[in-house]
Amino acid sequence: MPTLFEPFSLKGVTLRNRIAVSPMCQYMATDGLANDWHQAHYTSLARGGAGLVIVEATAVSPEGRITPGCLGLWSDAHAEALRPIAAAIEAAGAVPGIQIGHAGRKASANRPWEGDDHMAESDPRGWPTIAPSAVAYGDGLPKVPRAMTQDDIERVRRDFVAAAKRARDAGFRWLTLHFAHGYLAQSFFSPHSNHRQDAYGGSAANRGRFLIETLAAIRQVWPEDRALTARFGVIEFDGRDEETLVESIELVQQFKAQGLDFIDVSMGFSTPEAKIPWGPAFIAPIAERVRRETGLPGSTTWNLGGPERADGLIRDGKIDVAMIGRPLLANPHWPYAAALALGLDRPSWVLPAPYAHWLERYRSE
Ligand SMILES: Cc1cc2nc3c(=O)[nH]c(=O)nc-3n(C[C@H](O)[C@H](O)[C@H](O)COP(=O)(O)O)c2cc1C
Repeated sequence: MPTLFEPFSLKGVTLRNRIAVSPMCQYMATDGLANDWHQAHYTSLARGGAGLVIVEATAVSPEGRITPGCLGLWSDAHAEALRPIAAAIEAAGAVPGIQIGHAGRKASANRPWEGDDHMAESDPRGWPTIAPSAVAYGDGLPKVPRAMTQDDIERVRRDFVAAAKRARDAGFRWLTLHFAHGYLAQSFFSPHSNHRQDAYGGSAANRGRFLIETLAAIRQVWPEDRALTARFGVIEFDGRDEETLVESIELVQQFKAQGLDFIDVSMGFSTPEAKIPWGPAFIAPIAERVRRETGLPGSTTWNLGGPERADGLIRDGKIDVAMIGRPLLANPHWPYAAALALGLDRPSWVLPAPYAHWLERYRSE
């Protein structure tokens, strides 16, 4: 049975261990451009020992940003700003990954620490939003989006493909499509947000069409030897959970047929009415089912962060890689702490020599 600290290989990509930095928005960009904050942040996470560092949700177009502080990849200048970050992650021994997405009806919001809600209509920093249907999310996100036309659908698909090409050329080797958390792709799949009556709405097959078409188009440009993955919300906790799960698993099977290499199982966040049963690794049994029924390698997230818990999920064959979020914000050297907690006392397995040398020496005295 593999463990948290065993390598994981997918296509031509090998992670030195199964700890992944889950994508986490920093809200620190201006005009979508990465800067010193992102460089230092992602470099320190890679030096901290994770096997995979996935750069935060990066918008495929300006309107696809969640907040004005979100990263983007809609021009070559954006790719150039990300290139040294990918290189620094690689130089530190981790695999550079990036998540690309479009925030749909949840776009045009304030940063979390400035309200986490839609910017006021009068706020000049805000912008009009688009979604499958003109239905607002609700709660703090009351802005009603414009229903997308066929032209909009094709344009956003092209934006995804262009962003994937730029991520490829900037040196990222693991691409995660953001098909989760109530953003644009998820909102096509969810009946909460998709009330369309055309080929993109109604049946599960129609609601999945935008995701499938986007994935298939990206497969054409993403190299075969790199990892093409998606984070997808397979459950809403809205009372129709089994039905959603069955539909979701069928869609993931189609993702696989279209060339997806790996599935990262998360939640839909499509309605503020959801009753989420928060708890330690509470989505892991669902992730295991998705992995078993689709035969795709996979991961999950949300409260996996005790090292024994993450290690146990991998040993038990429930997931292949552990997506760790907040514990790595608290301590970028969490992989080292995890190694110690699991009884592996060789810092050089996870930390670079300028740290590991002294820590090994210190431990032996
Ligand atoms: C500050 C912050 C930003 C996040 N941004 C993203 C994101 O860009 N994309 C995404 O898929 N999930 C995002 N998430 C969710 C995390 O990737 C992760 O799934 C979540 O924090 C649960 O893992 P944890 O319990 O280990 O923190 C974010 C979470 C946090 C705390």
